[in-house]
Amino acid sequence: MPDQPEPPVLALDGPSGTGKGTVGRLLAGRLGWHYLDSGAVYRVFAYLADKDGILPEEEGKLTDFSRNLEIRFDPDPAVPGVYGNGADLTQVIRTERCGELASRYAAVPSVRTALLALQRGQQRPPGLVADGRDMGSTVFPAARIKIYLDASASVRAERRYKQLKEKGFDVSLARLRQDMAERDRRDASRAASPLAMPADAVRIDTSDLTIAEVVERVMHLVSRQLEDGAATR
Ligand code: DC
Repeated sequence: MPDQPEPPVLALDGPSGTGKGTVGRLLAGRLGWHYLDSGAVYRVFAYLADKDGILPEEEGKLTDFSRNLEIRFDPDPAVPGVYGNGADLTQVIRTERCGELASRYAAVPSVRTALLALQRGQQRPPGLVADGRDMGSTVFPAARIKIYLDASASVRAERRYKQLKEKGFDVSLARLRQDMAERDRRDASRAASPLAMPADAVRIDTSDLTIAEVVERVMHLVSRQLEDGAATR
């Protein structure tokens, strides 16, 4: 029997505030594919490890901790539900503090290795939209389509500010700018799978684009890629 082709992956990478999450969910809905919010995986890990009093420096304890960690998502990409060890953590992981913690634990190489299988396990038919920092470089290096979303630092901070305000979080724009710059610096400078644009990715600057425009651009690239793929098979 011929090998089944691997379900296609759309890797969507970039720093925070580029609209990745919203764009990724909309794309998954349009394509009828699954959606992986890898940032939420790191956020759940960080939230629970921190709650258990394990520090990012305690690699041995983190490895044991990751063996017993179960993370589950709502199957509908339009629903952002995420559960860690059975508890609904959808809301509590969305704070800036949790994003900051996630960035710290995510810099630990053994944590990244421990979370690889869980992320790769999401590649199921008919396809997967995978959103994160290292989807195209490390987790799904053979992804059929690789997109890198970017935007200017000030636009990203303003978007994030609006998003957090809408969710009812009390934040200052100046502080947020500072924290985001620090988090970006850490995510891009760590030794293990840093945030970087893969050589074979298409970069889209979303600074002056609406969410709908970004979705249309990516959909255009996806349909071209899928047609090319079908033609060469
Ligand atoms: O996308 P986000 O803000 O939810 O991600 C939170 C942190 O998790 C981010 O600052 C770095 C880390 N992360 C990562 O290291 N690799 C990923 N693929 C996704 C997120």
